[in-house]
Amino acid sequence: MLDKAKLHKLTNILIEKDVDGCVIGPSHDVQYIAGIKPDNDERFRGLYVLSDGRWFFICPELYYEEVREALGEEAHIYKWSDGEGVLGCFEKAQKDYDLNGMTIAVNEGIRAIDLIDMEDYIKAKYINGAHIFEELRILKDEQEAEYMAKAGEIADRAYEEIVKFIKPGITERDISNKLKELLIEQGGEELAFDPIVASGSNSSKPHYNDDKRVIQEQDLVVLDFGCRYKGYCSDTSRTVFIGEPTEEQKKVYEICLRATTEAKKAVREGITAEEVDKVARDIITKEGYGQYFINRTGHGIGLAVHEAPYIKEGNKQVLKTGMCFSIEPGIYIPGKFGMRIEDIVMVEGDGARVFNNSNRDMIIL
Ligand code: CO
Repeated sequence: MLDKAKLHKLTNILIEKDVDGCVIGPSHDVQYIAGIKPDNDERFRGLYVLSDGRWFFICPELYYEEVREALGEEAHIYKWSDGEGVLGCFEKAQKDYDLNGMTIAVNEGIRAIDLIDMEDYIKAKYINGAHIFEELRILKDEQEAEYMAKAGEIADRAYEEIVKFIKPGITERDISNKLKELLIEQGGEELAFDPIVASGSNSSKPHYNDDKRVIQEQDLVVLDFGCRYKGYCSDTSRTVFIGEPTEEQKKVYEICLRATTEAKKAVREGITAEEVDKVARDIITKEGYGQYFINRTGHGIGLAVHEAPYIKEGNKQVLKTGMCFSIEPGIYIPGKFGMRIEDIVMVEGDGARVFNNSNRDMIIL
C-alpha cells in the first residue's frame, strides 16, 4: 500500500519548496513511498504526486496487476499497452489534472528520453528534484533504523564466518562467492552490492573489482560487503592479514582504526558532515599519510547503498538524529597496499548508534 504518512511528508516538502508536483520513476524513492521495487526497464512507469495531495500512476499493462496490488483499489492508474505506447496517457493525465504550467520536480528514475516525450504532452516546467527526494529519505524512522541494524548484524555475522575461510591458495573470487553465500545464509534478502575482496597490492584500489588473484602468505585482504534487509542496506569493511604484517602495515592499521574510531565518536546532532570528515582526515594527515586518504570519510545509506548525507570536505550539512552513513577513512598507497575499517552509524542525539560491531582488532590468520 502507498504509505500515507510518507506521501504526506513528500507533499509537505513540495509545498515548502514551492513546487506543484513531482514525477517519480522506478527508484528507491518509489520504493520508499509505495513499496514498489525499483527495477527499471524501457517501459515508462511513473508515480505523479501533486502538492495538494492528489496522485496518480502511469503504468504499462505488463506491470498493472502488481502496481494495482501495491497501490490499492482507490488508486488512479493510467494503463498503456505495448501496442498503444505511453503518449496517450500523458495526454489524458494533462487533461484530467491540468498539469500545463505547473512546476514539476523530476526524480532520478525518469529517463531523459521519456521526459522529452512527456514535455510534448504535459507542458510543465520540469526541475531537478534530487534535493526533494534527498530530504524525503534522509532521516530514518525507528522502523527503518531497526531494518538497518538487522542488515548490519547479518553482515557482522558473515564477517565472523569468512575469517575462518580465508587462507593462502584460494582466490579473491572464492572469498567473494563465500561472502555472498554467508550474507544470504545469515538472513540477508539480497546483496547490497557485489563484495569487494582486494588482496595484496590490489588493496590500494578502494573499489577494486577484479577478483582473480590467488591469496599468498604475507598478504593483507580488504573485505567490503553488505546485504539488504527489508530493502535497507548494510555496508562494512574489515582488513585482515595472512601471516605477520610488516611494521608499516601495523602502523597504518592503527592509524586507520583510530581515524574510524575518533570520527564515530565525533558524530552527534549539530555537527556538520565536513567536521566529521576533518576528524578522520586530521589524524591521517598528522601521521603523514594525508595524500593517501583519497576518498571521502563516508556516504549516507538507506534503501540505496550510497545516498545523502555525504561525509566529505566542503559539505556543511548539519547532521541530525536519524541520519545514517558510513565512516570509512582509509589509506591507499599505490602499488603497495591499502586498508580501511568501515562501520555504519546513525546520529542519535549526542552520539551515534553503531550498526556494525564485528571485531575490529587486527586479525592475523
Ligand atoms: Co561504504
